[in-house]
Amino acid sequence: MPAELIRLPANAAVEQILEILDRDGGVIVERFLTTDRVDGMLAELGPYIQQTAPIADDFSGHQTTRTGGLVGRSKGVRELLIDPVILGTANAFLKPHTDKVQVNLTQIIRLLPGQGAQELHRDRFIWGKYLPRQVEPQLNTIWALTEFTADNGATRVVPGSHRWDWDRAAQEHEITQAVMPRGSVMFYTGSVIHSGGENRSKADRIALNLTYCNAWLRQEENQYMSCPPEIASEFDPELRALLGYTMANYGLGYYAPPKFVPGMPGTMPPEMAFTEDGAFDRDAADVPEARTF
Ligand SMILES: [Fe+2]
Repeated sequence: MPAELIRLPANAAVEQILEILDRDGGVIVERFLTTDRVDGMLAELGPYIQQTAPIADDFSGHQTTRTGGLVGRSKGVRELLIDPVILGTANAFLKPHTDKVQVNLTQIIRLLPGQGAQELHRDRFIWGKYLPRQVEPQLNTIWALTEFTADNGATRVVPGSHRWDWDRAAQEHEITQAVMPRGSVMFYTGSVIHSGGENRSKADRIALNLTYCNAWLRQEENQYMSCPPEIASEFDPELRALLGYTMANYGLGYYAPPKFVPGMPGTMPPEMAFTEDGAFDRDAADVPEARTF
């Protein structure tokens, strides 16, 4: 039996997505986005995409451009990150392993004609192999902003490989591709083997990669540098928290404001950076008083 990914309709429920993710490590939801929404994001991000040069290493791809910092650059991306089905799936998938989730990476992956297939890998290894196998650290989405075809580099996936021994190599017949129409999304776990495909076509393949991880891990993309408080102050508080402007557990990620505020609790949430008392001020010269926790 050749490897295959299950395809769900655009109105798929979180529970259906989770059930297949658990079994296969990846699942496609077709045409989740309307053409207008895809066009809108490409219009917002087009100028950034056009100016992005390949990183030029073997893993990232010599004929691949990767444009990040998308939360600050696209309203469409901001909406997707807090979409109830998308975020709901990330929360439900990761919650057994964390109290909170956060945005891990936002990236346009453009495969130019001539890009070869990427090396097969698991995304969770961004944190090395230190995490126990039973901990799932990451849940990913990859969106087809252009159609994903077998010829233009549709993502290669090895269904079921999230349960394999890490040393087991995929055979050719175990690999499939996330061929899908424009506006579709593939969910895939941080543990499933996958890679970018080969672009044998004459046109660019454009993907939007939005990933989430457990809030107690370091994010792959530095969201504080991409979206400093001056920019993040414009965002929905739920989205700000997803970027990391909140505490993951008691005390984890606390914020010492520029001025000591009498009566405040010992551990201060980063949300305080966006209030009047803790308003972010790059020129503030005050050194916070020593605190006792
Ligand atoms: Fe990857």
